[in-house]
Amino acid sequence: MTKLVKNIDKILVTGGSGFIGSNFIRYISSHYPELQIINLDKITYAGNPENLRDIEDNPQYTFVRGDICNPKVVEDVCRKGPQAIVNFAAETHVDRSIGSPEDFLKTDVYGTYILLEAARKHNLRRFVHISTDEVYGEAEDAPSTEDSPLYPKSPYAASKAGADRLAWAYFATYGTPVVIGRCANNYGPCQYPEKLIPLLITNAIEDKPLPIYGDGKNVRDWIYVEDHCRALELLLFTEGIEGEAFNIGASEEHPNLEVAEIILNILGKPRSLLTYVNDRPGHVRRHAVAADKIKAALGWQAAMPFPEGMEHTINWYIKRPEWWRKIKTGAYLEYYRQHYGQLHHSNK
Ligand code: NAD
Ligand code: DAU
Repeated sequence: MTKLVKNIDKILVTGGSGFIGSNFIRYISSHYPELQIINLDKITYAGNPENLRDIEDNPQYTFVRGDICNPKVVEDVCRKGPQAIVNFAAETHVDRSIGSPEDFLKTDVYGTYILLEAARKHNLRRFVHISTDEVYGEAEDAPSTEDSPLYPKSPYAASKAGADRLAWAYFATYGTPVVIGRCANNYGPCQYPEKLIPLLITNAIEDKPLPIYGDGKNVRDWIYVEDHCRALELLLFTEGIEGEAFNIGASEEHPNLEVAEIILNILGKPRSLLTYVNDRPGHVRRHAVAADKIKAALGWQAAMPFPEGMEHTINWYIKRPEWWRKIKTGAYLEYYRQHYGQLHHSNK
C-alpha cells in the first residue's frame, strides 16, 4: 500500500501539453479527482493544446502558458499554492539537439534551476524531476542501473544529465525533496511524430518512406506511456524516497528495424517502404535500464506488453488522423525536408 505524502492537494506540472505530460495529467486527474493541477507550458512546436482538449474545462485543471526559464512566470504560478512540482518541461528530440543545442541547455538545465529555486523558496513537499535513461549513455554489457556512471552522448542527454544532477544537488545541499525518474523510451498516444514510433506509423499510413538510421540494429527499451505515468504517481506520492533516483523501464528491448517491421505488419504495408539513411552522429547503440529498484521499493511494474501497446498506439494514430495531419504541415515539413533531405537514402 502506497503511503501518500501528506497535504498535497495541488500540483504544478510543467510541460503538461507535451506527450508524456498530457498522458500524466489525464491519468492523475482521473485517479485523483480532488487534486488541483496547474499545467505550465510554453507551447513550443512540441506542445499541443489538443492533447488535453477533453479536460480543459475540468474544474480541477488550470492551464498557464509560460516559460519555465522565466522566474517571474514561475513565481506567479507558485503563488497559486501548489505543494509539489512534476517537471516534464524540456526540449526532447536528440536530433534537434545535435543541430542546435542552445535551447536544450536553456530549458533543460537553466529552466530546471529556476524551478528548483522556486521549490526551495516555497518549501514545496515534493519535486519530481523527469530525467531519462539517456543520461547513462551506452548500456554496453547490461542494462543500466541507478549506480551506473553517467556518460550522456548527445547535447540533449548531457543537458538532461546536468538537470538530473542539479536536482540531486538541491536535495543534498538544501534538502529540497527531489525524486528523480529515469525512464526508458516511451510510446503511446499523443507522441509528436518526429520520434521513431509515431513517425514510422504516420509515414506508413501515408505510404511514405520509413527512415532507418544506420543499420537499424540500434536497440531501445520501450515502455507504454501509461506505465511510466503510474511510476511517476508513486514518485509523487510515496513518503521517504527524497533524494532517490529510480529507473523506469519494461525490459522490452527491440532493435529499430524490428519496431519498423512490427508497424508494417500491423498496417499491412510493404517492406519496400523501409529506407536506410545516414546514421545519427553519436548514435547510442543500446539504451536499456534495470528497473529492479522501483519494483522492489515501490511495488511498481509495467503492465502493457509491447505487442499490445503497439496495437493500441497504431489504432490511436489511425483513429486520430486530424491530430497528426495538422502537425505534419508548415514548420514540421520544413524540419523534415531539412533533416531527412540531407541524408543519403538507400533501400538495401
Ligand atoms: P515533448 O517534447 O512531447 O513535450 C515537452 C513539453 O515541454 C511540450 O509541451 C513543450 O511545449 C514544453 N516545454 C518545452 N520547453 C518549455 C519551457 N521552456 N517552458 C515550459 N514548457 C516547455 O516531450 P516528452 O516526450 O513528453 O518528454 C517529457 C519529459 O520526459 C522530458 O523531460 C523528457 O526529457 C522526458 N523523457 C522522455 C522520454 C520519451 O521517451 N519521450 C523518456 C524519458 C524521459
Ligand atoms: O531513452 C529515452 C529517450 O528516448 C528520451 O529521453 C528522449 O526524449 C526521446 O526522444 C527518446 O530518444 P531516442 O533518441 O531514443 O528517440 P527517437 O524516437 O528519436 O529514436 C529512437 C531510435 O530510432 C534511435 O535509435 C534513433 C532511431 N531513429 C529515429 C528517427 C527519428 C531512426 O532510425 N530513424 C528516425 O527517423
